[in-house]
Amino acid sequence: MLEVKNLTVKIGDKMVLRGVSLNVKYGTIHAIMGPNGSGKSSLAYTIMGREGYEVVEGDILLDGESILGLETHERTLKGIYLGMQDPPALPGVRLSTLILAAANKRLGEAELTKVKDPSIMRNMRTTASELGLSLELLQRETNVGFSGGEKKRSELLQAVLLKPKVVILDEPDSGLDVDGIKKVAEYVRRFREEGKAVMLITHYARLLKHVAPDEVTVLIGGEVVARGGAELAYAIEEKGYAAAKEWRK
Ligand SMILES: Nc1ncnc2c1ncn2[C@@H]1O[C@H](COP(=O)(O)OP(=O)(O)OP(=O)(O)O)[C@@H](O)[C@H]1O
Ligand SMILES: [Mg+2]
Repeated sequence: MLEVKNLTVKIGDKMVLRGVSLNVKYGTIHAIMGPNGSGKSSLAYTIMGREGYEVVEGDILLDGESILGLETHERTLKGIYLGMQDPPALPGVRLSTLILAAANKRLGEAELTKVKDPSIMRNMRTTASELGLSLELLQRETNVGFSGGEKKRSELLQAVLLKPKVVILDEPDSGLDVDGIKKVAEYVRRFREEGKAVMLITHYARLLKHVAPDEVTVLIGGEVVARGGAELAYAIEEKGYAAAKEWRK
């Protein structure tokens, strides 16, 4: 289980999270909702240990152990994966090379000689085509000139191949067409069936209608303002974030 305990975070002088507590259990989907600027991505980045996100108070635990002292790559190796809202371009790094290197490292085969492990390569090709990504795209520089939808699909491809225990997806549905949203939902449900802990950050209940999250937490101004089940997401879709006030924390 991933546990976020009373987490207060600053970026420079700006307080972005205030006393946030929530758990993401294995085999469940925990949706995080909230308006623009409410701290959703900051929560994801803080879990990954991104530079600049200063934990003022609180803790983050994976399987009962604090991960706060770990570097980002160590958190990844422990099995936490973040599919970013807006992943950066990596000129000069082919997507297939990035995935192979990361997957080999994560799966404990760090030597570069094994980078061409045929089973990972095969799985990459099959998953890419299931996700609607062309094989040509795998050979391109990561996120250089990728369309919005291609970026989202390639983040999901990495989520599958790195075999994480905890999958955090930051707005995996943004910029996707209808078929793309259904595809994301299918993968998210599969992650849950495989027993992974899924944190799903999204603005809209549209995606949540396809996945039926086990828990929903709403952030506003860096604070948890409401908690509930899938019904909370549907109430927000209907009435806006004002509906969150009717739900107890
Ligand atoms: N590097 C930074 N310096 C100063 N403020 C920042 C920085 N990064 C984020 N913030 C601020 O922190 C707040 C929370 O941002 P965050 O990206 O976590 O919101 P969000 O809920 O993910 O929003 P969105 O739905 O638009 O993605 C915002 O007010 C944002 O401007
Ligand atoms: Mg965000």
